[in-house]
Amino acid sequence: MPLGSFQDVPKDLAKEIENLEKQFTVDTAKLKEITDHFKNELEKGLSVEGGSIPMNPTWVMAFPTGHETGTYLALDMGGTNLRVCEITLTEQKSEFDIIQSKYRMPEELKTGDADELWEYIADCLHQFIETHHGDPSKLDKLPLGFTFSYPATQNYIDEGVLQRWTKGFDIDGVEGHNVVPMFEAAIARRGVPIKLSALINDTTGTLIASAYTDTKMKIGCIFGTGCNAAYMEDCGSIPKLAHMNLPPDTPMAINCEWGAFDNEHKVLPRTPYDVIIDKDSPRPGQQAFEKMIAGLYLGEIFRLVLVDLHDNHETPIFANQDISKLRKAYSLDSSFLSAIEEDPFENLSETFELFQTKLDISPNGPELELIRRTAELIGTRAARLSACGVAAISKKKGYTNCHVGADGSVFNKYPHFKARGAQALREILDWPEKKDPKEEDPIEILAAEDGSGVGAALIAALTLQRVKAGLMHGILHPENFK
Ligand code: BGC
Repeated sequence: MPLGSFQDVPKDLAKEIENLEKQFTVDTAKLKEITDHFKNELEKGLSVEGGSIPMNPTWVMAFPTGHETGTYLALDMGGTNLRVCEITLTEQKSEFDIIQSKYRMPEELKTGDADELWEYIADCLHQFIETHHGDPSKLDKLPLGFTFSYPATQNYIDEGVLQRWTKGFDIDGVEGHNVVPMFEAAIARRGVPIKLSALINDTTGTLIASAYTDTKMKIGCIFGTGCNAAYMEDCGSIPKLAHMNLPPDTPMAINCEWGAFDNEHKVLPRTPYDVIIDKDSPRPGQQAFEKMIAGLYLGEIFRLVLVDLHDNHETPIFANQDISKLRKAYSLDSSFLSAIEEDPFENLSETFELFQTKLDISPNGPELELIRRTAELIGTRAARLSACGVAAISKKKGYTNCHVGADGSVFNKYPHFKARGAQALREILDWPEKKDPKEEDPIEILAAEDGSGVGAALIAALTLQRVKAGLMHGILHPENFK
């Protein structure tokens, strides 16, 4: 195998690396500029006129106390898997028991037919209940929290009008419609004994689940296939809800849907590769921020860079090699980048093997260095831009000392994502250097509790409690809460 010494990367390739560094590096000044614009856009989303960040009120109107109890089902329709859980919130403060099953979301469902999607979901639920409770037809209806992690308008907690599909989903006949009746019709057909108590977003679930065990948690984030955040706003600061005359200090969780930040391309430093990602996606013009950060896109950005360096540059990389496998769109996911960044060997032998086995390409030493640097640049940019969102919410709310609960494959598995994000937050918010490396940051982004399981159950519990107390705002079907 070729073992180039990285000191002597040929000049042309070194130039390409420099060029990529220029395109993908986001310096402190830019991070601050993005954050300031982000904060304004959050405000705009809450206004009557609205903006490109949806800032969806969720009708989750309290943090949990830790004393919630009961047994709930939770269904999580994420980007990759479908998960069904049964969660028991126990008498013991902030404790719970959980049983769960995961079902792979068949790829073809994501761009298929709406009925097939709902049938598949109903089948999974049916199977889960049958396995854990026996004959579903003999059971009382169980309360369910449905984590539907796409932008949805909610005039009520038990409805959700899909604003648009994200994360590569493209199923006809769902956008612009309330998904709850579609879901309910499918479970009724299948005879699944369920009553829907709440439709929730994964970020809201993450916020609530994290706050259940840690009262310092103020923001819930997902950095996974998609990316987004939720936080608790005061109703008095949500002009678009003014007509409801809710007490101004009543809390309301807001699902920001910040993936849509800068859809009008005012501040984000987009590269030609980001432009292609957008143009070739099922929803061009949408999710500008998400498309630079989320797991679904990181591998694709990387792939586009390499193909470009092969096709269009004076000294092509992978010269005289067949790159047909690399030409396949979305063939590399973010775990491919993770593996490159994690390669422990000086000569990047693991990366070499990865390219050989997955792509039939044998990169030489200097090319391996370019590959590694490209992965680092893409991963670092994602982490640094993510921090702008966290900083923007913190600035808007005046949070100077809190915890942020984060979940998702990129946050949990992408190497250095946490440290790079923390470093960017430090730069944006002008924190002094730590005296002791073990010291907590003023705003610390930590691994969250399970939002779409425990979070969904807690939100179902909080909603049941609210209805019991006669607080009927944002409840469409009170009969389901008896
Ligand atoms: C969706 C959000 C979701 C995020 C993380 C985005 O694509 O629009 O609703 O919270 O992905 O799953």
